[in-house]
Amino acid sequence: MTSRRKFVQQVAALGTLSAASAIAPSLARAQAAKLRVGLMLPYTGTYAALGTAITQGFNIAVEENGGKLGGRDIEYFTVDDESEPAKATDNANRLVQRDKVDVLVGTVHSGVVMAMVKIARDSGTLLIIPNAGANAATGSQCAPNIFRTSFSNWQPAHPMGKVMYDKGHRKVVTLTWKYGAGEESVESFKEAFTKLGGSIVKEMYLPFPNVEFQAFITEIASLKPDAVFVFFAGGGAIKFTKDYAAAGLKDKIPLYGSGFLTDGTLEAQGASAQGLLTTLHYGDGIENPKNKQFRYAYGKKYGIQADVYAVQGYDAALLLGSGLTAVKGSFGDKKSLYGALEKVKIDSPRGAWTMSRAHNPIQDIYLRRVEGNANQVIGVAWKALEDPARGCKLGA
Ligand code: BEZ
Repeated sequence: MTSRRKFVQQVAALGTLSAASAIAPSLARAQAAKLRVGLMLPYTGTYAALGTAITQGFNIAVEENGGKLGGRDIEYFTVDDESEPAKATDNANRLVQRDKVDVLVGTVHSGVVMAMVKIARDSGTLLIIPNAGANAATGSQCAPNIFRTSFSNWQPAHPMGKVMYDKGHRKVVTLTWKYGAGEESVESFKEAFTKLGGSIVKEMYLPFPNVEFQAFITEIASLKPDAVFVFFAGGGAIKFTKDYAAAGLKDKIPLYGSGFLTDGTLEAQGASAQGLLTTLHYGDGIENPKNKQFRYAYGKKYGIQADVYAVQGYDAALLLGSGLTAVKGSFGDKKSLYGALEKVKIDSPRGAWTMSRAHNPIQDIYLRRVEGNANQVIGVAWKALEDPARGCKLGA
């Protein structure tokens, strides 16, 4: 099935398409009381699988809640943002100005989310971020109406500094895409690793979403660092671990990353990912009843294993549902709604988490090892890690 056909089917399965209300205004009027949810996510490109998993996770929570959130039926308005920052402002404006959504949910890519953050700040629309880690979204650009159910780019990478130092590595090469998520992940890793006494031999970058890794891998082989730290995700992560292994480096120069390197990708990565250590706020085998229940429901409905992106989408719907329930489904009193969202304790498959003052999860970061098709949790790399929220004045 083409990704386009699959995408259309998924959106149709979620509920009413926005086009339907454009064709039939009377129907749209009849649906006025529905909660208007704008999903802005990538359904094509390197991060397509991530956008789909978030959508599916969101849908599982809504289904568990009888198809409603905060007691209201839902009308979905969906945009494929293609992980393309140049189109992000127009895409978000379509949802806010044309479709008049009550809430924007998105996105995956840090560059795209910053356009959404600006529109949310300017329009006052509630924004729930189910992945993109751009530090500024809950840092210098934090706002009363902006909440995140995923992580800041600083969070998953930071504990890896100590993990790698404790493994005895002292000289490390970093490699990533040159855009917000890659740069901020490397910066955070570097902050922790160099503070302990480690040094960075070379920082390497390639443009997003290029996957021509060969020249970099050749240079890593000649530099002979103790280890390599990378940020890659989605299709790029699959290509990278395969190229790294094919070049014969996997058993010579240990490879580490924030956990996006091996999340939702293991089947395609096969042997190239076996044994890799990563840090992330989720792991496949987390032993809690919520995770078991979620993974079972997700597998049953979609026929694939849940991953971190599905969990973040699920938690976005839990957050919205719980905030709206506290204010009886109404957006009339925004202060009370945001107050309720700030106070939530989300019973997540990743383990319970709470909101920081900047509206970003305070959460455990796990150390995981790839075993077969699972990211097995082998320890907690950092308990209840809170993003420093540099530049955010909320709650200060
Ligand atoms: C980001 O752009 O923020 C991002 C994308 C994929 C995985 C993690 C972060």
